[in-house]
Formats: sequence, structure tokens, C-alpha cells
Amino acid sequence: MEHNNITVSVVGSGYVGTTTAALLANIGIKTFAIDIDENKIAKLKSGKAPFFEAGLDALVAQGIASGNLIPTTSYQQAIPNSNIVMSSVGTPDNPDGSPNLDFVFSALDSIASFAKPELIYVQKSTVPVGTGQQIIDHFKTKNSSSKFSYVSAPEFLREGSAVIDSIIPDRIVVGGQNPDVNMQIADIFMTVFEQYKNIAGIAQIACPDSAQKPTIFNMNLESAELTKVTANAFLALKISFANSIAVLADTTGADVVEVMDAVGADNRIGRAFLNAGRGYGGGCFPKDVSGLISSADRYHVDMSIMSAATKINNSMSDYVVSRLTELVDDNDLKDKKIAVLGLAFKAGTSDVRKSPGIKIANKLAELEAQVSAYDPEANHEAQDDLDSKISLHNNYREALKSATAVIIATDWAEFSKISASEFSELMTGKIIFDAVNMLDPKDFSDMVYQGVGRK
Ligand code: UDX
Repeated sequence: MEHNNITVSVVGSGYVGTTTAALLANIGIKTFAIDIDENKIAKLKSGKAPFFEAGLDALVAQGIASGNLIPTTSYQQAIPNSNIVMSSVGTPDNPDGSPNLDFVFSALDSIASFAKPELIYVQKSTVPVGTGQQIIDHFKTKNSSSKFSYVSAPEFLREGSAVIDSIIPDRIVVGGQNPDVNMQIADIFMTVFEQYKNIAGIAQIACPDSAQKPTIFNMNLESAELTKVTANAFLALKISFANSIAVLADTTGADVVEVMDAVGADNRIGRAFLNAGRGYGGGCFPKDVSGLISSADRYHVDMSIMSAATKINNSMSDYVVSRLTELVDDNDLKDKKIAVLGLAFKAGTSDVRKSPGIKIANKLAELEAQVSAYDPEANHEAQDDLDSKISLHNNYREALKSATAVIIATDWAEFSKISASEFSELMTGKIIFDAVNMLDPKDFSDMVYQGVGRK
């Protein structure tokens, strides 16, 4: 399908917004990328993504070179010229766990005052079920003449694989009052899929020779909103479930990796997201789970299953630290030098939001251990969140030097390449605490290897 005659404004240049804008520009759509942050816009104009994400710089650069990607801080420049607006502003959580929709509504106000009469307003941010209807009502009070349509088109991309997830999605979900308008939006994302090889070539990322066409789910507005949070909540539930079983495995002599390999072989269950460890972090799972709990509360629906998952997740970093304490001399971490490898919330990103590695490092510092930390990509981002007593290093060798123990807190491939002999040479102690269960215990038979739920 040709999209030459449409212009899109993508509001918010975070992970979702920047990826979406860069992809649309690369399938030939004139796309404004709007953000109120001048630094982000300046970076985009210079042909770079505002953060590290594999392949995205190349797509932004190509978008800018072709003239299709137009970064701007001006709603006035972009919105009056756009047929479609895609809102992908941040939805951080309030202290009580409910999502803070201030950015969603302030973007809405700016959009409404400049909107074309037949604007299609697409929501890509994760918002609680019921928000779309509030936006529709609010828009009408701001711009009564407009015949605008609203579509919820949630995004399922993972950080670290944002480009590949977006060009080969498992499904395209669109929800709104008018199924034909929903399909217009689904068509745009289907075009991205149809051009995935070309886009992967520009991004210089690996992609399969053939890929299954994503299924389009065209549904009502509330269903689309609920689909997004349900998917993330279920994945978070799987992780917390695996972590509960891991703790039981630790106390009984079972090995959670062996258990989950066998359990996950049941194709009703699946192996994915059953990796036990220090728990989940990041900008999505913790927030989406607490958002679902607060939505359920609002409608007096019992969501204690998700409260339990949160409680387990919150306990995992303490669990790692207490298991480590059992392994050190005198069961006391005070003045012991402990290296923490990995501060990003997962491999492949520099994002440190709600990062378990940072939580663990700070907990160790609180117990007066001497903490030396290193992350291949996230040192800079982590700095402000780390206890000032923690020393940050530019490579793992420096961080490991003379350490009594090391905790591996992020599954960076770099860490799986460190051999037992290299650990031994650099460290004074022998304790390897693998808090992401990424190493093979058999490779560390001369050391004290400890995983989460591993024999
Ligand atoms: C997630 C969803 O996967 C994605 O579909 C959604 O759009 C946004 O939220 P993301 O937060 O980028 O994506 O990361 P993901 O790869 O899902 O990992 C989330 C966290 O769970 C990480 O901290 C990861 O280390 C942890 N995790 C993941 C586990 O602890 N165990 C697992 O088995 C899988």
C-alpha cells in the first residue's frame, strides 16, 4: 500500500516514539518527530537516536537524509500538516503505583489546538483501560468542530531489540470505534513488515530470510488497551513464578534451570520468560503491573495475583544479597570488596530504570561492602542512582580486581566470555554469584559458583 499522501506526527521521542518515527520515515512517510526536549530533537536532527538501540542510529540518519524524518519541538509546525498523530509520550508511575498521565493529557492539549478536522489520533503509549474514552471526551471539549478518530495501537517492542521487534511483530493490535480507521493504521504497520528486509539492511541488523506475516487484531478500544497491559503482566507473572520456584529449589536441592527446561517444553507453557534470577526491572514491567493493579482497584476487581508477583519481584535483590552473605567469611559483607557486573536492567540497553543491578549494588553499599561496579553501556546512566561510595569502572577487569566476590546482575554476552581462570587471576576470593543464571556452573568447578535456584 502507498502512504505517500499522508503525513504523520509522532509525539514523544523515547524508545517507542523514536523507533516508530524512524520506521515510518523509512517506508516513505513524511514524519514529524516531536519532543519538548530540545536536546533530543537536536540529536535527532544530527542523525542520531537520543539513546543506544541497535540499528536505530542508521534508520534515523537515513530518515534525515531522505528528508522524510523531520524532528521538531514545534507542535505548530507539525500538527496542522498531519493526517495522523501517534502519541508515544512517557507514562511514568505515581508514588502509589498508578500511571501518571500528565504527559498524555498535555500532549493531547497541544495536539487538539492545532489538529486538522479529520485527524486520526493513535495512542501508542501504554495507558490504563478507559483512558482512550477520556481522551476522546477531552478532545471534544477542546476542538468541537473536529471529526477526529481515536485508535489504540499498543506497542510490544522490547528494548535492545526495538527495531527487529517492530519490523517483524508477532501481531498488530488496533482498537477503536471505527474498524475501517483501525485498519488504516494497521496497514501502515503491515507496510513496515512488508519492507522488513530493506529496513534491516539500512539498520544493518540481522533478520531472517522469511518471517510469518503478523496477524492483525482489530478490536474495540478497551480491548486493545487491556491487551497491552495483560501481555506484560502475564510475562511478569511468569518471571515471578519462576523466581518463587527458584527459592524452593534452593532450599530443596533442585535446579530451577533443569526444572524450567522440562516444564517449558510443554508447548502450552513455553520456555520463554521462565528464567529465574534477580527479578525484572525496566521502564515497562514494574509500571505496567502496578498500573494494572491500580486499574483493578478503581473498578473494585481483585488483582491480588499481580500484587503477589510484585512482592516476589521486589524481594529478589534482597534474596541475592542474603544468599551472598551466607557465602562470605563471618557471614558479614562489611569491608568486603564485592564487584557488581551489570547495571542496565537487561542486556542490550543502556536503560537503568528500576534496574535490579543498581538495587543490589546499593544494598551491598548499605551493608558497608566496598562495591566496585561496571556496565558495558550503562555506567553513565547509572551514576546518579548509585550510592556515592560505589566505585564505577571502565572495564570488568578493573571492577574485579582484588574482589572477594562478584555478582553478575545483567546478562551481557561480554560476561559469559570471562573464563574461570580470568576471574581467579583478577579476584582474591572465589565467589561467583550469577544472579541472572547465565553461566554454566560446570565451567566454575574450581570456584564457588552460586546461581538463583541452581544446585
Ligand atoms: C517488555 C516486554 O517484553 C515488551 O513486549 C513490552 O512492549 C515492554 O516491556 P522490556 O521491558 O524491554 O520489554 O524487556 P524484557 O526483555 O521483556 O525484560 C524485562 C525484564 O525482565 C528484564 O529486567 C529482564 O532481565 C527480566 N527477565 C526477562 C527475567 O528476569 N527473566 C526472564 O525470563 C525474562
